[in-house]
Amino acid sequence: MKMECGMDKRVLLLWWYIIVCQLCFILGAYSEDFSFRRNLRIFDNPESSSANSLVTLNNQNSAQVVISNGIISLTLSNPRGYVKGVSYAGIDNVLDEKNEENDRGYLDISSGKLTQRVHGTHFSVITHKENIVEVSFLRTWRSSMDASNVPINMDQRYIVRSGDSGFYSYVIFERPKGFPAITIDQIRIVYKLNEARFNYMAISDTRQRKMPSMRDRKTGQELAYPEAVQLKNPSNPEFKGEVDDKYQYSSENQYNQVNGWITADSEKPVGFWIITPSNEFRNGGPIKQDLTSHVGPTCLFMFVSTHYAGKQVEIEFQQGEAYKKVFGPIFVYLNSAPSNNQFKSLWSDAKQKLLNELKNWPYDFPQSKDFIPPNQRGTLLGNLRVQDGGNKSQNAKKAYIGLALPGPAGSWQRESKGYQFWTRSYLNGNFIIKNIVPGTYNLFAWIPGFIGDYKYNYEITIKPGSTINLNSLVYNPPRNGPTLWEIGVPDRSAAEFFVPNPYPYLTNKLYINDPINKFRNYGLWNRYTELYPKHDIVYKVGVSKYQNDWFFAHVPRILENKTYQAATWNVKFELSNVLNGNYTLQLALASASYAEVQVWFNKMSDDPPYFTTKRIGDDNIIARHGIHGLYWLFSIQLPSVHLVKGDNTLYLRQSRFGSLFEGVLYDYIRLESPPTTKLNV
Ligand SMILES: *[C@@H]1O[C@H](CO)[C@@H](O)[C@H](O)[C@H]1NC(C)=O
Ligand SMILES: *[C@@H]1O[C@H](CO)[C@@H](O)[C@H](O)[C@H]1NC(C)=O
Ligand SMILES: *[C@@H]1O[C@H](CO)[C@@H](O)[C@H](O)[C@H]1NC(C)=O
Repeated sequence: MKMECGMDKRVLLLWWYIIVCQLCFILGAYSEDFSFRRNLRIFDNPESSSANSLVTLNNQNSAQVVISNGIISLTLSNPRGYVKGVSYAGIDNVLDEKNEENDRGYLDISSGKLTQRVHGTHFSVITHKENIVEVSFLRTWRSSMDASNVPINMDQRYIVRSGDSGFYSYVIFERPKGFPAITIDQIRIVYKLNEARFNYMAISDTRQRKMPSMRDRKTGQELAYPEAVQLKNPSNPEFKGEVDDKYQYSSENQYNQVNGWITADSEKPVGFWIITPSNEFRNGGPIKQDLTSHVGPTCLFMFVSTHYAGKQVEIEFQQGEAYKKVFGPIFVYLNSAPSNNQFKSLWSDAKQKLLNELKNWPYDFPQSKDFIPPNQRGTLLGNLRVQDGGNKSQNAKKAYIGLALPGPAGSWQRESKGYQFWTRSYLNGNFIIKNIVPGTYNLFAWIPGFIGDYKYNYEITIKPGSTINLNSLVYNPPRNGPTLWEIGVPDRSAAEFFVPNPYPYLTNKLYINDPINKFRNYGLWNRYTELYPKHDIVYKVGVSKYQNDWFFAHVPRILENKTYQAATWNVKFELSNVLNGNYTLQLALASASYAEVQVWFNKMSDDPPYFTTKRIGDDNIIARHGIHGLYWLFSIQLPSVHLVKGDNTLYLRQSRFGSLFEGVLYDYIRLESPPTTKLNV
């Protein structure tokens, strides 16, 4: 009796189980179908009919390998691994077929004057399943190779999956022990698109436009350097007189996640996009700027570069130093719109695709054992507070917090060898860094609104699958006393200062009515002399406004005979009384290029200055329209004998003037009184 009853219960349970499963299945299928249809409605991708096509791999033994999934077809040279062709939406090749096969889609490495398109010497199939193909083009360096070969082993991988409107690309770099020393300053992937088709470039919601052609550049006039050209005779007369310069299209790493081109004039427009799902393999941290897309039409993916930073961020390998790093994967995405007037929807769709890739990061399908899959990565979390001087501590809001190879505080901005993992803290100071590749790091941070760099005292070792909670951390920014006055906002950028309008005859129409991106205009450095024709800046604390009265760049003045002269900026301030002890001048620079800031108080003479930064920096920010480069902070102690009761002057002289591009951008300047104790109050 008892047993029978038990059996009945089990049968009943089984039935319930079956019914629930069916329901789940139906619901699941419905929701999948729903999202699928929703995608279709937005994208109108030709892939819809072939979303489940198998991935095929052809011609493995000939001079080219073709991988297709019914949506795209990728043609790679064998065994070199150049991307010769990408066909999509009825277009045979979206890349430029006029170019040689090594000049359409390739990876190159620069070391000083040498730039090499490093290519494979051995082809192999890593995976060939019906829903995914991964291939490898391996290149092994040998000492018998001539000097034009960068001593690095490289395994370049391509992945095509069924249902994907695009392909993945990544590369594994390795230097076994024993390789000769080398300095590397750039590693990038380049795609050159069919010029007859792609004419509209998009790198952000507001930064997108129809672009001039390569021919327009060639018939233009070179400006202060070869990259900047004024269009004199463009095929589209609308562009006449505009400036074209690829550095006007740079972005910070943290915002450089999708960029590309659209065939805006075709009946069924097509988009070609490079999507970057992670910054972990890029150099220099989250605010380093780099190139995106530019006239060609060219689409770049920069893994490592010295742009907006200078030689200090080069990768130096010692003789024999062992090294391995995975760059990527990045995703090359193609999309299409049903009609010409919908071409801009391809940008929103590409952004949507980016979100999808971010959600799937780290990928679980790359086959290289050197690419660390999600379940082998670690997590670090905690809470950061900031205590500035005698003030109560407060939440570190929106702080940049990241892991990079061990080094002194702030060293991450010059670090190019290892992986970096960054996040922003929440308003309550909590932070969580996910998907960290196992290894040993330092934890670094900086907080908008506060000067200096935070570094956690101990090295942090991330183990596979581990989570470390650091709980509460406190950052004490440099400060020796209360603020007497300050100029600007400590945020590592000069954007809050006065940025002049561009010359009306040297504009890029993207940046005419865009106050946020105004600094990207060409030629602004020339306007200093126009604004201050006879005298340099005199800034009166309490009267002047840094938004209007502090020029964004301390550049040389141009004299009537076209020679340059060092500009000396004066800061006038009043002291109601002079306290005993040392005052402190906190001098934070947002950029420096072959520049030297000399500092005097009250008496400027030819004598050595009270303080000098010495000649520093080569981030070339002024010529490249960046509003910040590397960050520099100088805390200058000033015994009170140098100050007087009443009117005082701080002189800031930028003493190097070999060219107009030698200069600094200030981030923030603050004068602090001597340290106070309770007795002083
Ligand atoms: C506290 O912070 C304010 C503003 O951040 C600053 O002006 C002031 O000097 C600080 N006080 C001390 C004692 O550091
Ligand atoms: C240019 O003018 C400045 C100031 O008048 C003068 O000191 C300098 O010698 C001149 N340079 C040349 C090359 O004429
Ligand atoms: C004050 O500044 C001078 C000049 O930099 C320095 O030599 C001295 O040690 C400082 N004194 C204190 C108490 O910090």
